[in-house]
Amino acid sequence: MVETSAAKPRTTRKAVIPAAGLGTRFLPATKAVPKELLPVVDKPALEYIVEESAAAGLDDVLLVTGRGKSAMVDHFDRRPDLEKSLEEKGKTAELNAVRRSSEIASINTCRQGEPKGLGHAVLCAASHVGDEPFAVMLGDDLIDARDPILPTMLDVQEEHGGIVLALLEVPREHIKRYGIVAVENTGRTGEGHLGDIVRVTDMVEKPDPDEAPSNLAIIGRYVLPAEIFEAIRNTKPGAGGEIQLTDAMADLLKAGTPVHGVVFKGRRYDTGAKIDYLKATVLLGVDHEELGSEFREWLTDYVKTSLA
Ligand code: G1P
Repeated sequence: MVETSAAKPRTTRKAVIPAAGLGTRFLPATKAVPKELLPVVDKPALEYIVEESAAAGLDDVLLVTGRGKSAMVDHFDRRPDLEKSLEEKGKTAELNAVRRSSEIASINTCRQGEPKGLGHAVLCAASHVGDEPFAVMLGDDLIDARDPILPTMLDVQEEHGGIVLALLEVPREHIKRYGIVAVENTGRTGEGHLGDIVRVTDMVEKPDPDEAPSNLAIIGRYVLPAEIFEAIRNTKPGAGGEIQLTDAMADLLKAGTPVHGVVFKGRRYDTGAKIDYLKATVLLGVDHEELGSEFREWLTDYVKTSLA
């Protein structure tokens, strides 16, 4: 077992959230609104990610943004005019919700001028991150706050150094969407919703299922050492003509950097595609503190009467 603690002081303090993408899979909704700001139930997808980061003790967050995405930064800023008006009207719950998003973490930004891939986006974070290990969190993967993985990943990184990846077993037909790893057992396992802690021996970006080393996919949580930046600088465009983070990590692995993975078995919602976003809304909706019971009742009735 690996002991985890979100509260203890960390050598890793920063999280990088690549959010410069054009959101083409979500057009027309993302024509004027960044996909990261589309609400999942009652708050933007990005707010879940920033909350997850802060809950793991990483309250220095760097958003890698792009053209047309400044509303993301506004979301985490104060809104004195709105706060004043809500205060005057006695709308306390709304006021707290508005204030909360500006208090979760310290939000910094950098711009990825051209969308040249995930590796390129991470490289934009180099000067903000400096020499420390840091986390990368991808916005399309929502990890349920009840099933945290990041604290365990940070613990594993503190123990072994190098790279730590979140891994998920995926069906064969989804292998082509992910970075896929080969692993060896370490004989250690996480708690409850976490599976084995494994040593990664190889990784490949979006392989054909026939050539994939396993069905263990990298999902959007990474803890990386600062050496990744030099590795990315030396990485040539790979799958899809983009500078791939997986390729840079594979180079570090070959050069002897330890790479570990924590297998995730908890609740995770993919919000990257329209159909998955719909599913995430329902799954999080039925468990929502305020709306859950009414929504669940309605949904049960709807399924029985209209979908039967
Ligand atoms: C990226 C990474 C891939 C990883 C995936 C997780 O791919 O390149 O290795 O498995 O995120 O969601 P993308 O989804 O940006 O195509």
